[in-house]
Amino acid sequence: MAASSRRGFRAAALVGFFSLLSILVLAQARPSAWAGEIDEGEALFRARVAPPGTSGALLSGLGPTYNVEGCAGCHLNNGRGRPPLRLGEPLTQMVVRLSIDFAGEIVPHPAYGVQLNDQAVPGATPEGRAFVEYSVIKRRYGDGTGFELLKPHYGFLDMAFARLDERVLISVRMPPAVRGLGALEAVPEDAIQALADPTDENRDGISGRPNRVVDIVTGRETLGRFGWKAGQPTLRQQTAEAARIDMGVTSSLFPLEDCPPAQDQCARMSIDRSLELSDRALQAIESYLRHLPPPKRLGARNATSERGERLFTEFGCTLCHVPALPSPPAPTGAVAAYTDLLLHDMGEGLADHRPDHQASGREWRTAPLWGLGQEAAADEQVRYLHDGRARDLAEAILWHGGEASIARERFRVARAADRAALIAFLKSL
Ligand code: HEC
Ligand code: HEC
Repeated sequence: MAASSRRGFRAAALVGFFSLLSILVLAQARPSAWAGEIDEGEALFRARVAPPGTSGALLSGLGPTYNVEGCAGCHLNNGRGRPPLRLGEPLTQMVVRLSIDFAGEIVPHPAYGVQLNDQAVPGATPEGRAFVEYSVIKRRYGDGTGFELLKPHYGFLDMAFARLDERVLISVRMPPAVRGLGALEAVPEDAIQALADPTDENRDGISGRPNRVVDIVTGRETLGRFGWKAGQPTLRQQTAEAARIDMGVTSSLFPLEDCPPAQDQCARMSIDRSLELSDRALQAIESYLRHLPPPKRLGARNATSERGERLFTEFGCTLCHVPALPSPPAPTGAVAAYTDLLLHDMGEGLADHRPDHQASGREWRTAPLWGLGQEAAADEQVRYLHDGRARDLAEAILWHGGEASIARERFRVARAADRAALIAFLKSL
């Protein structure tokens, strides 16, 4: 008895020793800055960026013009943002991209650059303000029950440098949640490419294709993954671009402020060419984002959500919202993001008519659906789709057009109980 418990103790001690050893080995294998870097990235992500030259600030270099003083101001709790809920409120978290069609080439707006910045540091002029109004579209489900969709219309006030004429192309976008993006970044390019079917050879009505964009770090054209039109290839570039166009913060990837030709004040205030976001800080934010875990699935599955899951396949939703993408050899296994990361023609109703790299004005990246449950639970007034026009998940589906028309119609003509089961499934994600 005594001998066996001693052996047991020795075995336990041995196991303890080896697990301690493996922890030490693992800790050594990782660069020592690892955990500290993520914390630093989190602090930077949450920081309020101060105007240039502010002493003691974690991050400075805001403006001259900008939208919001920090990443977390738009990606609150790493979740999605939303459009104003009351008429006449400014679009604070939404971004308004602007360009013009210059003899067939899409270029930044000559007076405002790539994005409307409605804020400015002292001494600079805010570019102007956007507001949204909605018109109501009335339609019916197959069983005769009515529903209403809100179509957004954008207007502009106090435009400081030029009137927006009919040449302007506008894309208004809501901040998406930023959880699990490291997993999406790790999906091998071949796996995404394998899902593409640009000429619809398999005749299923779905013709996804990847966006192709230049990776500024390598100088090579590569697959776009992030943003509503997959316009950014990496978390690094996405972060550097956000710093520049949302906050007016320069970095080694984008060393120049977005000062359009019409704004000489902006140019005068940007003579100092020192980089505002250091490579170390950029790397830290990138690490923070890369290590944010995917959203947790909400609640246990039940008979209704399981039926909803079957309908999700039957309706053809999975043709774009692919339930799992392969991840490279990793303990986490497959990436259950419910996206193919490809662009699809979503029809006239959702079109913004503003091309973005190779995405046309009608194409959007399949939105990942993981986290829908968590986001609905966290915010009663959560909004959906790229511009936040959909007030609930049914509206988000009913806006689907183009390649997704068949799937939308299957949902629209389904029995009320089946529609409810499908929504229950989406809320379980
Ligand atoms: C003014 C609001 C705003 C601010 C500030 C902002 N973002 Fe965003 N963010 C957005 C919007 C809008 C998008 C979608 C952009 C698109 O479609 O191109 C986005 C997209 C992203 C994405 C891609 C998400 C995905 O699912 O593809 C990441 C990552 C991200 N932002 C990180 C950051 C970081 C890091 C910062 C700070 C350096 C930041 N953002 C600051 C509004 C903002
Ligand atoms: C042809 C590809 C395609 C099919 C089929 C499709 N979707 Fe989508 N889905 C998209 C794209 C692209 C978006 C983003 C559109 C936008 O924001 O304008 C999207 C957005 C969504 C959203 C909103 C997500 C968010 O974060 O706001 C939901 C919910 C959704 N789809 C559910 C479904 C369901 C349910 C079905 C089946 C009835 C379906 N989709 C079929 C491509 C597709």
